[in-house]
Amino acid sequence: MFKNYKKNSKKLQKYAAKLIPGTSQLFGKKPELYLPGGNWPTYYSKAKGINVWGLDNKKYLDFTMVGIGTSVLGYSDPDINKKAIDMMKRSSMNTLNAPEDVELAEILLKLHPWADNVRYCRTGGESMSIAIRLARAYNNREKILFCGYHGWHDWYLSANLRSIKSLNQHLLPGLDPLGVPKFLRGSVIPFRFNNFHDLDKVIKKYACKAAAIVMEPCREEMPSREYLIELKKIAKRNNTLLIFDEITSGWRVGTSGIHMNLNIHPDMAIFGKTIANGIAMGAIVGKRKVMKNATKTFLSSAFWTERIGPGCAVEFIKKHKKLNLGKVLVKKGAKIKEIWKNAAKNSNLDIEINGIDPLASFKLKIKNWDVAITYFIQEMLKRKFLASDRCYSNYKHDDKSLKKYKDACNEIFSEIYKYSKSNKLKSKLDGPVKQMGFKRLTGKN
Ligand SMILES: Cc1ncc(COP(=O)(O)O)c(C=O)c1O
Repeated sequence: MFKNYKKNSKKLQKYAAKLIPGTSQLFGKKPELYLPGGNWPTYYSKAKGINVWGLDNKKYLDFTMVGIGTSVLGYSDPDINKKAIDMMKRSSMNTLNAPEDVELAEILLKLHPWADNVRYCRTGGESMSIAIRLARAYNNREKILFCGYHGWHDWYLSANLRSIKSLNQHLLPGLDPLGVPKFLRGSVIPFRFNNFHDLDKVIKKYACKAAAIVMEPCREEMPSREYLIELKKIAKRNNTLLIFDEITSGWRVGTSGIHMNLNIHPDMAIFGKTIANGIAMGAIVGKRKVMKNATKTFLSSAFWTERIGPGCAVEFIKKHKKLNLGKVLVKKGAKIKEIWKNAAKNSNLDIEINGIDPLASFKLKIKNWDVAITYFIQEMLKRKFLASDRCYSNYKHDDKSLKKYKDACNEIFSEIYKYSKSNKLKSKLDGPVKQMGFKRLTGKN
């Protein structure tokens, strides 16, 4: 019974597995991706800033992606909370529409002057599906050229109907497209990020048949400018739309999509996750020629009209701009990378550091990396950190918490060196080796 387990995460997790297939609604929150065997806290009772309290009231500092990348201002931000409460007091849902829809549209279009219109929804994958529908409606073509991860929907998972390996480097190896209609086979075609060979052999070849070219403008690395310029030229020449998925990259280095920093303008830019600091919100920003199809096809959902999402997005963007948060996140991200680099150097370990500063990750170049990263997570947890091989910098990663994090990394890296030298690292694990996660996050094609 829930009431018997609600203060014991290990028992609750076991109970949950019987009631909820997969335990979590998000693959990335599966405890096995951190510490299998019940040692990961899995559930939280409350959170504030980067502090997270488990069910047993133990307090942790969050140095992972902080809410899967949603909460760059920190959890339970007072200004976002105030806005959400105000929206609730005025009624989160209504027969009439929320005026914040219009306020947010005005703000988003001012930030992205190449665009004319916006539409909203509430999740990332959903926003991408809307963009795909609009693209297909625009030029009456069905094929989509894509790179990276864009959500769970049929259009995307259908990539694996042609080959079970299509999504290996874009999401996870061997994903079964079970339940996806077979007639979608061949409708989406993968290409590699920032790869001139694929630009020539895949994108050029299929662009004339494709409704859109879909990619994140940046994830692990910034693409080369020539690459993006060439990509845009191909899209234009073939009347194929260019769609930038900014669900993770947006709001990281500036108050807009990262494409504004790259100065390459797409036909549509897609926002989700981070846009309202942990409140569900998604936005499709695009050129009128495409967006006008929103009323020609059928796009409609009751909860795309609730008020908390757009209200909090307005608040988030205003606060982001005021704090110059993009610059802050870049600076803090660079510090985190420095911590890893120095901890590895101090411990005689070789390290590979990937990602732009606010979306950074590391990998120690040692035998049995899966064992080493499990040990790192386990020992960080003992020192009251939620941590992994990836850290998205956060406004609330302050000097004090960064210092603690640095000390912990130094200690644990040096233990990793010592135990792996003596072949004892695996025996130091309190449970099984963790499941390795997303290929899309490794940055390696
Ligand atoms: C680039 C990108 N696109 C799409 C998605 C899917 O968003 P959601 O999980 O909100 O459906 C994600 C989520 O991680 C993402 O990072």
